[in-house]
Parts: sequence; structure tokens; C-alpha cells
Amino acid sequence: MRSENHATTATTPVGEAVHAAAGRIRQFIGASARPRVALILGSGLGDYAERLTDARSLAYDEIGFPASGVIGHKGRLVYGRAPGSSLEVLAMQGRVHAYEGHSLQTVVLPVRALVRAGCEIILLTNAAGAIAPGLLPGQLVLLRDHLNLLGDSPLRGHNDASLGARFPDMTSVYDRGLRALAERVASASKLLLPSGVYAGCLGPQYETPAEIRMLRSLGADLVGMSTVPEAIAARHMGAKVLGISCVTNLAAGISAQPLSHDEVTETAAHARADFIRLLDGILSEIAAEQRVAEGGTDHV
Ligand code: HPA
Repeated sequence: MRSENHATTATTPVGEAVHAAAGRIRQFIGASARPRVALILGSGLGDYAERLTDARSLAYDEIGFPASGVIGHKGRLVYGRAPGSSLEVLAMQGRVHAYEGHSLQTVVLPVRALVRAGCEIILLTNAAGAIAPGLLPGQLVLLRDHLNLLGDSPLRGHNDASLGARFPDMTSVYDRGLRALAERVASASKLLLPSGVYAGCLGPQYETPAEIRMLRSLGADLVGMSTVPEAIAARHMGAKVLGISCVTNLAAGISAQPLSHDEVTETAAHARADFIRLLDGILSEIAAEQRVAEGGTDHV
């Protein structure tokens, strides 16, 4: 009987593409590398990768990752250590979206390859519009759940059992332990970090006010055009997921102002200092937890 869980060989074109991309990443980082965390940096947030120490980068086309044509997305994978610790991180500066014409299987190929290359934690970041009252541009929000409104799934089609189960559980997509860790870091750094439900829409047009009223009645606090497919694929493969949105605008109809991508990238840049503080703190806590788990002490 074939196992529905993680076998080691790829059995489909998707599995083979993941395997090949992961191989190129492993070749780039070297046999002794132990990357633990993958950071996916959304619109206007890509600069965070410059904080990694001993960093080296590789262009997406050299890995076989799809390249994004969206302004604010650089298209390189950076390998380095988290600031102030030895935690090895792979950071994606930019991602592709379904609205660019890619299938969801293509959209999630990079995240799958990063998990296959060894990353156990996938930290997804994005720019999002605020739906819930009280959320303001510039604020960071921890994702506690999502609504998949893309009308499709990255898991549609033949399931490759070497990647994960046919019917994976999605009860707790955004890992409870990591969320608690992020909340501890935020409170220690005196950062506000409310949690919210993210509605993933196809785009690329921003929503209408009527659509935002609908999303609000469905329980969404935030809206964006990314993250959901990647979170599903990472869970499918058994990785732990953490999601952080940077609110870049009030969603359509909540403010009378028309929305623009320039506003999105500018506001994300303004939230930079808080974003850096939060991510630095999260990575250093993950590093400390890992040292404890590996039998060391939690002091550097
Ligand atoms: N809607 C959808 N995606 C977004 C938004 C928005 O208001 N802001 C940033 N990404």
C-alpha cells in the first residue's frame, strides 16, 4: 500500500518540479546548510532580507522559480543568518500571484521547494487592506485564519503523496505556538499586534465597496491577493506557518479614497521600522527555542 504521507520520491510533474527547485536551492546553500525558516516578503517588505548576515542571493530564474512582474517585488532568494543569531533563513524577495496568470500550482512552487529544502517554518508576509474597524494603515496584524476566495486550490489535481495527504486538515493553518511566540515578542517590544482573518481574493482589481461589505459579513478582517495558496501548500507538506499582514490601506468603501498600488508600497515602507522589530524578535525567539530543543541553553 502506498503511504498518503511523506514518501521520499516525487511521483508527479509538480513533485518533480519541487524536487528540482529544492535541489538547486540545496546546491546554492551547500550541503552543510540547515535552513530552518523561510521568509516570504510581500509588497514593499522585501528589504527585510538585507538584514540577514553572511547573506548570498540567487535570482529566481536560476532556481526555476517563476519571476514576478509586480513593482516592489525583486525576484531573488537570499540565504543568510537571522540578525543576532545563527538561525539560518531563506528569504524570498517577492512572490508571484495568481492574478499574473500563473496556476496556483506554480504560485506555490517556491514555498514547496523551500519546505523540501529543509525549512520547517514558513513565515508569510503580505500587504493587505483593512476591513475590521480599528485596523489602520501602517499596522501589523497576525493572521489567525483565512478565507480561500480564489475559487481554486493549489492542491487541485492528482495528489503527489510525496508532498502530503490528499485531504489535509486546515483546522489550524497558522500555527498556535508560533502565534503565541509572535504575540510575546510584540508585547515585549511594545508593538500592537492584533490578530485577524485574511480573505485571499484573486484580484488584480481591488474590491468594490459591496464586495468589502460581503467579506466583512463573512468574517474577514483583512483582504489581499496572496498568502492563502502558499499557506495551504505549506500545511499540505507539514510545515508550520506564521502569517503577518502589513495594513497598507483601508479597504474599498471604508475610506472614500481610491486605492492605488503606490499607496500600498509607500505605506508598507512606512511600517518598515515596526516590521523589522517584529521580525527580528520573532526570528531570535525561534532561534532561542531551537537552541533549547537541541539541548543547548537559551543564552547566546
Ligand atoms: N485589497 C486587496 N489586496 C490588497 C489591498 C486591498 O485593499 N491592499 C493591499 N493588497
